[in-house]
Amino acid sequence: MRPVEASTYAPRVDSIFWMLTAASGAVILLVGTLVLFFSIKYRRGTATPRGPVPDRLSREVEIGWTAATAFAFLFFFWFAAVAETTQFEIPRKAMEIHVVAKQWMWKLEHPNGTREINTLHVPVGVPVRLVMTSQDVIHSFFVPAFRTKQDVLPGRYVEAWFEASKPGTYHLFCTEYCGTDHSRMGGGIVVQSQSDFARWIDAQPQGDSLADQGAVLFRRMGCTGCHGGSSRIRAPSLAGVFGRQQPLEGGGFVTADESYLRDSILLPNKQVVAGYQPVMPSYQGVASEDDLIRLIAYLKSQKVVSPRPEVGP
Ligand code: CUA
Repeated sequence: MRPVEASTYAPRVDSIFWMLTAASGAVILLVGTLVLFFSIKYRRGTATPRGPVPDRLSREVEIGWTAATAFAFLFFFWFAAVAETTQFEIPRKAMEIHVVAKQWMWKLEHPNGTREINTLHVPVGVPVRLVMTSQDVIHSFFVPAFRTKQDVLPGRYVEAWFEASKPGTYHLFCTEYCGTDHSRMGGGIVVQSQSDFARWIDAQPQGDSLADQGAVLFRRMGCTGCHGGSSRIRAPSLAGVFGRQQPLEGGGFVTADESYLRDSILLPNKQVVAGYQPVMPSYQGVASEDDLIRLIAYLKSQKVVSPRPEVGP
């Protein structure tokens, strides 16, 4: 029985699976038939000649099967590579969900601040980008109906995406052994029509968006002290930082994505922006995973309004 295909990715994975199964089946059939054929042909007592195979013929056969195997391999490789690379090309317009795994639950957050535990509501036909991290050990986010599986690691962000293609409720599993209740660390993805999803999210308790909560944290944690603009300590302005190419001290650039911002808060001296001193203290152990999500959401929401006027004569 075929497991349900509920994402745009699922039919691609399945088609590769069925092609490989068909190819393997054909090879098994061919080899089995030949074994049977020759064991009858050369059975004991027959007068079939048993001399060596002619040189020329065997060379052609050898070139033939080597080429056929190579082409079959390249054919499958190409199909799988195309499917695999789409898993790393996250659509720009994707809706974002933050996932924090911990022993033994999935914490899921929508950009508007709606939080869910173990159950994630998403609309059908909309790409969903997952920005995931773990609070403790390695977990793995697995939705069989989507054919989506991604390890979730502590200390960094990993990304995955899917686009659900069929409304319904689908299993979410943890597929990395993570302790006593690993087997219970599951939940569900509720895929709704876009109008049902809009109604659902409107019906959730209205709180502040992640970015608004981040703005409060940004002040409370003292970030404004240096990054506020009026500070005497020279710190890079953070308005419009997200997505920017940051020049680094010592040469090179880094794209300011979620992982970079996360590192800049926890390990500020790992990559120092060109022209600045490595004076920022680490917020390791100060900012929780939930705080980081909020701070980063705030930084992402900061657009450059106008360049700061240069002070000087
Ligand atoms: Cu989390 Cu297994």
